[in-house]
Amino acid sequence: MGVGPWEGRWPAGDQWDPDLLEHGDRRNVVDAYRYWRHDAIVADLDTRRHDFHVAVENWGHDFNIGSVIRTANAMGARAFHIVGRRRWNRRGAMVTDRYQHEHHHPDAASLAAWARLEGLTLIGVDNLPGSVPIETFDLPRRCVLVFGQEGPGLSEPMRGECAAVLHIEQFGSTRSINAGAAAAIAMHAWVRRHVFDQQV
Ligand SMILES: C[S@@+](CC[C@H](N)C(=O)[O-])C[C@H]1O[C@@H](n2cnc3c(N)ncnc32)[C@H](O)[C@@H]1O
Repeated sequence: MGVGPWEGRWPAGDQWDPDLLEHGDRRNVVDAYRYWRHDAIVADLDTRRHDFHVAVENWGHDFNIGSVIRTANAMGARAFHIVGRRRWNRRGAMVTDRYQHEHHHPDAASLAAWARLEGLTLIGVDNLPGSVPIETFDLPRRCVLVFGQEGPGLSEPMRGECAAVLHIEQFGSTRSINAGAAAAIAMHAWVRRHVFDQQV
């Protein structure tokens, strides 16, 4: 993966990283950011991040969290939030977390208090009794999409803090889909609604 040393005359500009120009760039970044300094990439992303945030409950070091955080990067989430244990399983994130803004909240109430101050609506994503289909729900622009973990799903306190809990319709026999897959579907639903202005 990646590109070798820059060929020819080095480009001028602050965003370029001399070390990468000299030795090549093997990072997991889109071609437009090849050879850019890490902080220059983050600063550029900051100019165009979307209005949704992503939160994941982290009570059991679930390996799916990394996958959720990687998708949050790809879909342009404003920031990601880890609720519960501060240490989380970064393996599946493939270093994409380093290009995002990370917040930690000890519990659901702290996330909810922070969201209220920011004027963000907490939207739970889980297939629970009383949840409504994401397919026909008009997702608010300024929201936090909150995901549970394998096994228990969204905790009771988190369910209580969410303005709505949405499920992704399923048509087979399995109780649920993988949390990383569910997060990708939910984030993409927000993108379809607010970036492509597609009415539900
Ligand atoms: C294994 S599921 C949780 C358990 C599930 N509530 C159950 O009844 O078995 C783990 C997480 O994946 C996400 N998830 C999985 N399937 C989903 C679906 N169909 N709709 C919405 N979220 C889903 C949710 O965020 C959930 O908290």
